[in-house]
Amino acid sequence: MLPPPGPNRAALITGASSGIGAEIARQLSARGHHTVLVARRAEQLTALAEELDGPSSVLPADLSQRADRAALPERVAALGLEIDILVNNAGLSTMGPVAAAEPGAELTVVEVDVAAVVDLCTRFVGDMVGRRRGAVLNVASVAAFGPLPGQAVYGAAKAFVLSYTHALGQELKPSGITVTALCPGPVHTGFGEAAGFSIEDAEAVLPKPLWVSAHDVAKAGIDGLAAGRAVVVPGRLNRAATAVYHLTPRRLLLGLLARTHPGLKK
Ligand SMILES: NC(=O)c1ccc[n+]([C@@H]2O[C@H](COP(=O)([O-])OP(=O)(O)OC[C@H]3O[C@@H](n4cnc5c(N)ncnc54)[C@H](OP(=O)(O)O)[C@@H]3O)[C@@H](O)[C@H]2O)c1
Repeated sequence: MLPPPGPNRAALITGASSGIGAEIARQLSARGHHTVLVARRAEQLTALAEELDGPSSVLPADLSQRADRAALPERVAALGLEIDILVNNAGLSTMGPVAAAEPGAELTVVEVDVAAVVDLCTRFVGDMVGRRRGAVLNVASVAAFGPLPGQAVYGAAKAFVLSYTHALGQELKPSGITVTALCPGPVHTGFGEAAGFSIEDAEAVLPKPLWVSAHDVAKAGIDGLAAGRAVVVPGRLNRAATAVYHLTPRRLLLGLLARTHPGLKK
């Protein structure tokens, strides 16, 4: 169940400056929640806060930085707010073979996609347990369901998020706190471009029917969280693809993925 909105209660959404995170913020705001918007680009966060009808707060932070993550609970407390809903959505990917990768870029993916999820869950769920009220939505990906040659770090990072979210959900069940992993297939956002995909490349390997809008992905995630679902894969075809993925022998699947991934083209 989603905790009801209330005075001094808020939903903190990371990666709210664009794409799926901005949509999640819009939809939680429309449901009456005070939103706390977190990402690096303060201008985009402020523009979103001005667009929202409900109350919201802007907390610019670089989630690849431990100090920025550690400062968030105090910055939230200084606003007089308690976080009832935590949405770990910020994320990015690198693309290409590990042998040609830049170590710093690979580790930034681990910091934002993995360490920040662990860090913010650890910092915020204790108070939720104390209040016996809360909800956590961690954004993984369909890439969480198996290794992804061409985006090796990203696939492994999202597999971590999926596993961690399952375990956390089980631990928090007795406290009445709901925990959901949202696993989208392809979505047109700034994500592909930031990773180095052209739209043409992405649409060539990922057929059009697999694409779901950021609005529908956000809605599926929030509805799934409200319904207490452990995992949400938006889109019927993505759910079917996930089932096929599980049934196909890994050796065949990995070969196919490596042959078709745009990041591994010679
Ligand atoms: N688009 C897809 O096809 C797809 C599919 C499956 C899963 N996902 C997942 O969905 C989530 C949202 O991605 P999106 O598609 O909405 O992409 P997006 O439009 O590129 O949004 C990514 C968000 O992450 C934030 N972010 C990145 N690095 C950050 C950092 N160091 N500190 C703080 N915030 C940071 C960005 O904000 P700033 O740049 O302002 O910091 C931005 O708000 C990600 O976890 C992604 O892995 C996306």
